[in-house]
Amino acid sequence: MLLGVAEQIAREAGALLRDRPRALSAESKSTPTDAVTEMDRAAEALIIERLRQLRPGDGVVGEESGHHDAADDDAAVTWLVDPLDGTVNYLYGIPHFAVSIAAQQHGESVAGVVYDVMRDDLYAATRGGGATCNGAALQCSAQTDLAFSLVGTGFSYAADARSIQSQVLTSVLPAVRDIRRMGSAALDLCMVASGRLDAFFEAGMLPWDWAAGALIATEAGARFGGLGDRPPGVWTTLAANETLFRRLEALLIGAGDPTATS
Ligand code: IPD
Ligand code: CA
Ligand code: CA
Repeated sequence: MLLGVAEQIAREAGALLRDRPRALSAESKSTPTDAVTEMDRAAEALIIERLRQLRPGDGVVGEESGHHDAADDDAAVTWLVDPLDGTVNYLYGIPHFAVSIAAQQHGESVAGVVYDVMRDDLYAATRGGGATCNGAALQCSAQTDLAFSLVGTGFSYAADARSIQSQVLTSVLPAVRDIRRMGSAALDLCMVASGRLDAFFEAGMLPWDWAAGALIATEAGARFGGLGDRPPGVWTTLAANETLFRRLEALLIGAGDPTATS
């Protein structure tokens, strides 16, 4: 079963990450502040090796190593892997990071897990089968009033994109209960699923950031998507119950979010 495979491998990668080396070496990726550590790479290597053993023939797309035999057949399973979501937290010893693994068919996630390593919380969902945390069903928040909404967000690793994100934030911050920037988009989406956050938005996410978390959030009753019906990811992407989604979307468009018009 796809979910069982994802869960087993996420726990194995989590055990590896929990054993964080004291002297952790890191390099820069897309920008000087976009870090990758030896442990991101080790966790991804473990996940790919285990997928190869348990699901030979499936495609795999890993954040750190790219495509591995992604199947041409659209109906085949392709795994999207973020071996360590929250790398900057990990680098600084902040115990808030996750392993995210999703199985996709026809370009849509059909099963996904996000493993909160230090809390030992396993978020899971299958398409049409609901979302759980450690086996307990999840339901997103019913809050519809932006002024009483706790809203998670995240920022790009690129300074020019951050400059735009900070301008948008000047309109959002006075309109909501408060903002949280916790450093793991996958866990932010799980917090929308569990109601720990009322809503979440971020621009410029990549597919492995949200492939599992978005399934978990939507199976918990949230809407997930890009601003103005755009595809998720590059555009500012939101998650919240339907009413709050539309209100936050209107606020972001009113705030001059450039991804609303470009
Ligand atoms: C990042 C985290 C962060 C989000 C960034 C992501 P990484 O992933 O999810 O919260 O704001 O957009 O790139 O680099 O830690 O895997
Ligand atoms: Ca990530
Ligand atoms: Ca990562």
